[in-house]
Amino acid sequence: MTHETFASELDLATALGRRIIDIVRRHPAVVLALPTGRTPIALYDELVRLTRPGQVDWSSVKTFNLDEFVGLGAGDAGSYRSFMQTRLFNHINLRAEHINFLDGRASDIEQECARYEGAIAAAGGIDIMILGIGANGHVGFNEPGETLVAHTHKAELDLETRASNAWCFGGDIDKVPREALTIGMGTILKARALVLMGTGESKAEAVHAVLTGGVTTRVPASFLTLHPQVAMMFDQPLADAIATL
Ligand code: GLP
Repeated sequence: MTHETFASELDLATALGRRIIDIVRRHPAVVLALPTGRTPIALYDELVRLTRPGQVDWSSVKTFNLDEFVGLGAGDAGSYRSFMQTRLFNHINLRAEHINFLDGRASDIEQECARYEGAIAAAGGIDIMILGIGANGHVGFNEPGETLVAHTHKAELDLETRASNAWCFGGDIDKVPREALTIGMGTILKARALVLMGTGESKAEAVHAVLTGGVTTRVPASFLTLHPQVAMMFDQPLADAIATL
């Protein structure tokens, strides 16, 4: 496990953006797993900026997103799919058939989750998975609890998680769905390399627990420390806040 601290959120995004572009150039058929949330916004801006001069070809890259709200799909403003379209997919030449997303509107949830696991396997597995972390220590939508689920599944969202996602729904927590589909902790740990991005003081307790608290289902991100190839990237405000704990 490595961890690096960057002076600002922007510096972190710039460094990670450059690394990803470098990998896409060297391995054009790389399979990426991507997060949503506030944390990766600067990263996606950076990827778009670095791609703009037309020097980066994304046409062989495949992507899998981590999660989606139950009941929402591509056409819904609050969906993670629409977030990704707006922030990244519309600006780079990823092929539509290479974009993989859980369909929150699927009528048969179990079948949809199995389909997603199958699609990941058919792509040869995930090479690099980028992750954010929830203030409660969740990754994807794997919420803290007595147990964790290995495979892609439907998860019930904590109130805190719904509150932190309210910005996707005009600030109205009542509009945030109560359930989501998410890849599971086993699926995460099967990726060949993991990158955990953490920015801002609100993540201090969760990241502190990951770094010092041992592996526990009460802090799902703590499982990442079991992975042989995990890079953690933090900004200085987060590192400073951790130092006060
Ligand atoms: C959300 C997403 C996660 C994300 C996390 C942090 O609920 N499901 O994949 O990493 O919470 O979000 P943010 O980056 O907005 O703090």
